[in-house]
Amino acid sequence: MLKNGSSNIKPPLWLLLEVTYQCPLHCPYCSNPVDLGSASNELTTEQWFRVLDQAREMGAVQLGLSGGEPLMRKDLEQIIRHAHDIGFYTNLITSALGMTEKRINRLKAAGLDHIQISFQSADPDLNDAIAGKRNAFEHKKAMFMCVKESGFPMVMNVVISRQNIEQIDAIMALAVELDADFVELATSQYYGWAYHNREALMPSKAQLETAEASVNRMREQLNGSSPQFLFVTPDYYETRPKPCMSGWGNIFINIAPDGTALPCHSAAMTGIPFPNVKDTDLRDIWYHSDGFNCFRGYDWMPEPCRSCDEKDKDYGGCRCQAMLLTGDPANADPVCSKSPYHHKIEKAVAQAQCSHNSEMMARTVKNSQLILSVKP
Ligand code: FES
Repeated sequence: MLKNGSSNIKPPLWLLLEVTYQCPLHCPYCSNPVDLGSASNELTTEQWFRVLDQAREMGAVQLGLSGGEPLMRKDLEQIIRHAHDIGFYTNLITSALGMTEKRINRLKAAGLDHIQISFQSADPDLNDAIAGKRNAFEHKKAMFMCVKESGFPMVMNVVISRQNIEQIDAIMALAVELDADFVELATSQYYGWAYHNREALMPSKAQLETAEASVNRMREQLNGSSPQFLFVTPDYYETRPKPCMSGWGNIFINIAPDGTALPCHSAAMTGIPFPNVKDTDLRDIWYHSDGFNCFRGYDWMPEPCRSCDEKDKDYGGCRCQAMLLTGDPANADPVCSKSPYHHKIEKAVAQAQCSHNSEMMARTVKNSQLILSVKP
């Protein structure tokens, strides 16, 4: 197991480039930071190339390209070509907005290996209402079929919330109709915008149980043939935390649009200072920065994690969730029933059983300014 000190630190396997926070959609479940930054601070093409080279030299092999909407970057094909040429397996995580048949061909020619397209619902009106964009559904559907025809392995991703969970049968039928290979039905994780909208987003226990039973029925009907469905419930309903990111600074490195290197996509909000690839080599960041070292191993852990016999399974859970719910990222994840803050999770779950609050803040620049202006 990892201990502080570079000789025991394994190289990163996963590199996620959040190439932009710009996005044509306004989904209230977005896990991007509420502070969306400025497009003018995004890394240049050459700077992304340098990050890719440094990560590959360290041994990273899996590359995710996300955002925001990565298709907003006109140089996306160049970034993919470079990544492909140096040996990355490349995965594009997209809403399909900004995709065209020509662009799919260009992405394929650049060497892209894998595409994941998100839907918000199987109902066009509900899809477009959640996404905050007219005609998004029809475009996504058309692009999904084009991508499939181009021979990419197809992953459909649907973020499940109180707004769409009761349409889960229709969502699965859409996945079958579109001949998806793999379908991720993942209940929203409450970070970023989703944390602000948690009360309206979180399904009740009864809704989750009904949805899970539907997914199991569909799996039985399909009897092993595709699509394969993955159903992810919110960790708020668990009593032990998830091993978030497989441990802080263990296998995963995330680069925000402005070049800040992070151990996960939400880590900036912990208040921990993280280095930027514009001025520090990735190897140095990974092995020697305080930000990546502060939660490696077990020495940093307070009780109850320090003496817990499950700490090597969950690493104390999620540092960002600890920050959001307790104000200190070093605390045990409140999802854990042993955490002195577990009552905060229980309160949110209790609220979700009877919540009628459907008010949500769409992910917009205006709302970002509003939330940031009232933050302490
Ligand atoms: Fe940051 Fe879990 S999301 S550690």
